[in-house]
This record gives sequence, structure tokens and C-alpha cells, in this order.
Amino acid sequence: MKAPTLLFLGVWLNFQCGGLAFSSSCSYPPAKWCSSLDSALKCGVIKECLASNFTRSHQKADNVQVGFYYESLCPACRSFLSLMLFPTWLMLNDIMTVTLVPFGNAQEKPDGQKYIFECQHGEQECLGNMIETCLLNMTDMAFLIIFCMESSSDVITGAKQCVELYKPELDWNTVMNCVKGDLGNQLMHQNALNTRALDPPHEYVPWVTINGVSMRGFQGFQENLLYKSYCHKE
Ligand SMILES: *[C@@H]1O[C@H](CO)[C@@H](O)[C@H](O)[C@H]1NC(C)=O
Ligand SMILES: *[C@@H]1O[C@H](CO)[C@@H](O)[C@H](O)[C@H]1NC(C)=O
Repeated sequence: MKAPTLLFLGVWLNFQCGGLAFSSSCSYPPAKWCSSLDSALKCGVIKECLASNFTRSHQKADNVQVGFYYESLCPACRSFLSLMLFPTWLMLNDIMTVTLVPFGNAQEKPDGQKYIFECQHGEQECLGNMIETCLLNMTDMAFLIIFCMESSSDVITGAKQCVELYKPELDWNTVMNCVKGDLGNQLMHQNALNTRALDPPHEYVPWVTINGVSMRGFQGFQENLLYKSYCHKE
């Protein structure tokens, strides 16, 4: 029942930064398939590439930990999450754990016991980040709901419908209580700390780590099509 919905949502293709084109086709020669995450994804061989790389360098080859540092309204984050990260995870969730950290280029300032957040794309983005942060704390369906939000035409107005679609027993008011309350504030502060702890620090979002290692070091990754539309630190 849910497959057609996923397909429908997955065809969201409305990029605000312009010039961003995803090709699902593999234009790399076989020798280059494992030269970058992008080529591995496009050529459908990421599992093989990751296995061959991480079998050699890591003992727990069966569990690839992907960290995804992003912000809810950054166009490149939305595209990457909807068109690359989520579909890959759907296929590989047996060997792949994804940790989503919605914060990105936001700033926080202490305000008494709480924090005030300022987001690159304004208050709506802070709201989107907070909804997603609360969902991650509240339901194991969070990735699916966040994918639904990020791939819908409006991340914020899509949120309630996405929760109703994938976690109907989760009351929207419960989510909003977290969003507006101390829990959301503390969870977002954790996201800020986790983002700040990146070593090397992120330079743009989305910022991807694999087993704790920044994907920036992966040959070819930063030169790919996506890079031009990444949301850089201001
Ligand atoms: C939700 O957040 C609380 C407070 O930080 C934490 O104790 C709890 O383990 C979190 N639950 C999940 C499922 O992440
Ligand atoms: C595999 O390892 C090589 C050499 O260390 C590296 O250049 C390449 O980017 C890696 N590819 C993937 C997909 O991890």
C-alpha cells in the first residue's frame, strides 16, 4: 500500500538553488564506480563499494554508520535526503544506520536555562528542524516521516500529513508540545553540540560522515554536481 505513495513523493523535483540536476543513470566507467559516493550511488554499487572498502578497514563491516548533518529547508539537503540517502537506506538498512542531525548552519545562544536558535533559512527552518528533531526522539518511523516532509512541496505544512500517513497513532499535539517545550529545546541543543563536534568542522550542508569520517575526504565527492548548490556557512 505504501509503495505508490513513496514513489509519488519521491518524484519531488523542485530545486530552488537552480542548476541542480540528478541523473539516475551511471555515466562512470566501471573502474571509477567506487571512486566516490556519488558514482557508487548512481551506478547502484554502493553496497559493493562500501563492503570492499570497509571490510578491509573496519572490523564491523556489516554496520555502516552514516551521519547526516543538514537543515530542513536547504534545497541541497532536501534533494540529497530524498533522492540519495533515503532510497539508499531503504535498500541497505540491514547494513546501514543513519543518524540524522537537523541543525546545519544554525546558531544557538544561551538564554537562561534554554537556548535561542537562529537558522540560515529563517524561522520556518528552525520550526522544521525542531519538528524533525522531536520526531527522531518520539518514533522509530522518524526517517520515513522526515523523508516525506523533505520531499513534499512544503516541508512545514507537509509535516502533519506525513505524521498522519506514517504514524497515525502519534498525536500531532504531542509533537508540538515537544517542539514548543523544554524537551525540543534540549534536543536541539544536543544537535548543536553534535554538529559543533564534527572534526573537521562542516563547511556546508548537507555534510555526510561515514563511520565518523567526513565524506569531504572522499575523492570526487566535492566536485560532483550537488556541491554547487550546497548551503555554505555564511
Ligand atoms: C528522547 O530524549 C530524552 C531526553 O534527552 C532521552 O532521555 C531519550 O533517551 C530520548 N529518546 C529517544 C528514543 O531518542
Ligand atoms: C574506497 O577506498 C578508496 C581508497 O581508499 C577511496 O578513494 C574511495 O573513495 C572509497 N570509495 C568508497 C565508495 O568508499
